[in-house]
Amino acid sequence: MSQHTIQLDHVSFAYAGEAVPSLNDVTTAFDKGECVCIEGPNGCGKSTLFRILLGLSYPTRGTYTLEGETVDAKSMKEEAFAAKLHRKIGFLFQNSEVQLFTGSVEEEIAFGLEQLGLPESEVDRRTEEYLRMFDLAAIRHKAPFNISGGEKKRTALAAVFAMEPEILVMDEPLSGLDEDGQAWLTDFIKGLHSKERLILIATHNRELSAAVADRVVRMDKNHRVI
Ligand SMILES: Nc1ncnc2c1ncn2[C@@H]1O[C@H](COP(=O)(O)OP(=O)(O)O)[C@@H](O)[C@H]1O
Ligand SMILES: [Mg+2]
Repeated sequence: MSQHTIQLDHVSFAYAGEAVPSLNDVTTAFDKGECVCIEGPNGCGKSTLFRILLGLSYPTRGTYTLEGETVDAKSMKEEAFAAKLHRKIGFLFQNSEVQLFTGSVEEEIAFGLEQLGLPESEVDRRTEEYLRMFDLAAIRHKAPFNISGGEKKRTALAAVFAMEPEILVMDEPLSGLDEDGQAWLTDFIKGLHSKERLILIATHNRELSAAVADRVVRMDKNHRVI
């Protein structure tokens, strides 16, 4: 059997103290080269699924493997393993405002690149490139809490994309954007398709799925993949 980039086998997950699981026996796999939209009603478990993929929560039952390696509490305690996972997977939160924490838009982009251990010249080069690409050069010195919602979204996206992760996970990427912003981001995501990259998007927006997805995975209100 060939190895999937991401494989979930019978993964269930319940938040502490919750009787009802938020993920219910989920078995699915994702591969590089595809853009997969996870669709389903509010509360079905999309964000929870992403928490598992990022190693922020661990399956209560079942297994998650990333390129053949099990991701669990034990492996994530190993610093090198956790660092590898964080390099591999770039994540855009549903509420990307909470992702911004530095003093300026340009620092927001440079920070992640420094964390990757890139040489200073490469940090500078990519920071300039992504400031330009996301039309942020004019506000590069502004504090992230002083910019508009759309600008915050673009800053968060630039910071994630500048790291050029192999796996891009976006939770409701169109939320908080006006119509122009949504159209722009939809086109941008279309352009991200690559053989070398896996893109996962949680959305309840069928138009977005129709525009960008190679494949749609549906979840239901019983927290299952259907
Ligand atoms: N921190 C939490 N503690 C307890 N229950 C939670 C928590 N976060 C989410 N849930 C519950 O888990 C289920 C799945 O939520 P979530 O993954 O956020 O769904 P979605 O992203 O599809 O809207 C919901 O029933 C939600 O109420
Ligand atoms: Mg969600």
